[in-house]
Amino acid sequence: MKKSLVRASVQSLHAYVPGEQPAGERKFIKLNTNENPYPPSPKVDAALRGLSAETLRLYPPPAADALRRRIAAMHACGVEHVFAGNGSDEVLALCTRAFVENDGCIGYFEPSYSLYPVLAAIRDVRTMPVALGQGFSWQTPPVEGSGLFFLTNPNAPTGMAFPPEAIEAFCASYRGVVLIDEAYVDFAESDCMALARRYDNVLVSRTLSKSYSLAGLRVGYCVGAPALIEALNKLKDSYNLDRVAQTLALAALEDVDYMRRNVALIKTQRDRLGSALAGAGFDVFASETNFIWTKPPEGITAVDYVAALRERGILIRYFPQGELARYVRITIGTPGEMTALIAATEAILAG
Ligand SMILES: Cc1ncc(COP(=O)(O)O)c(C=O)c1O
Repeated sequence: MKKSLVRASVQSLHAYVPGEQPAGERKFIKLNTNENPYPPSPKVDAALRGLSAETLRLYPPPAADALRRRIAAMHACGVEHVFAGNGSDEVLALCTRAFVENDGCIGYFEPSYSLYPVLAAIRDVRTMPVALGQGFSWQTPPVEGSGLFFLTNPNAPTGMAFPPEAIEAFCASYRGVVLIDEAYVDFAESDCMALARRYDNVLVSRTLSKSYSLAGLRVGYCVGAPALIEALNKLKDSYNLDRVAQTLALAALEDVDYMRRNVALIKTQRDRLGSALAGAGFDVFASETNFIWTKPPEGITAVDYVAALRERGILIRYFPQGELARYVRITIGTPGEMTALIAATEAILAG
């Protein structure tokens, strides 16, 4: 047998499985990847039109200084507290390289973002998944045994926020770095940014993919102690954020009001969908995100519900593993999309 040229750990790696991005002719209502149903700010559009292809001749600013200055101003910290990445996924990946020894371990809640175990497998290090409590509630993780803990708040795919006091008490006693992944925080009632300023071992990450409608641009960032930020800077690609991404991200962050208006629209539809699903017998979890985690009523399984919606041209997210297979995750869309989803759900339940 010919020896494989690929490392053994890469051969056995199960790569992250993103939600379906349909490519064919058929138009779907896409409620499966937590994208924002509204376009980015008109300021982003204007900045895009103002970009000249000629400038692409030059490398982008390597440290994304203007963008990081803007982020620092938003969070009332110095620029040395800010790292900007190619999506928050890059921030998470760099954390696994910066804060976990080769014989180390990465902790995270189960369920939470399904990328974390993949990142650990890419680094070829151990994992310490911490099962959540009853109804996906907070469970204090062990403070030793892992060098990095990914703490998603509000959590995904459950949509629920954890108690801020419990998060802070954990951060205060944990021996490694806590990365609080706040991908959905703009849809939540509170945030943990203060912890990134208060504790030397805490990073808070954010993304422009959800609330700012820029999933296609790939910009995320984290805030924390300069020593941690410096470590990420040493490891990043020299030009991890391209010129277009830096320019458009800056334009988006200059129009926070626009983002807030869209978030308000989405929260209204979240309440509406939650009530409609509960009224139809679904078990609905309190969401502080742009999606709803729910269990279909007796009489229809999650997998059948997903398939029946797909037949009607609506995509939602299904995780086939273990306990999660009884639930579905539905991204909040426009009022029209929610009307279509509610009508389709009623028709499916009526048989
Ligand atoms: C919890 C969580 N963190 C991070 C991300 C990645 O965000 P980005 O698009 O910034 O890489 C996602 C995207 O789905 C997410 O659900």
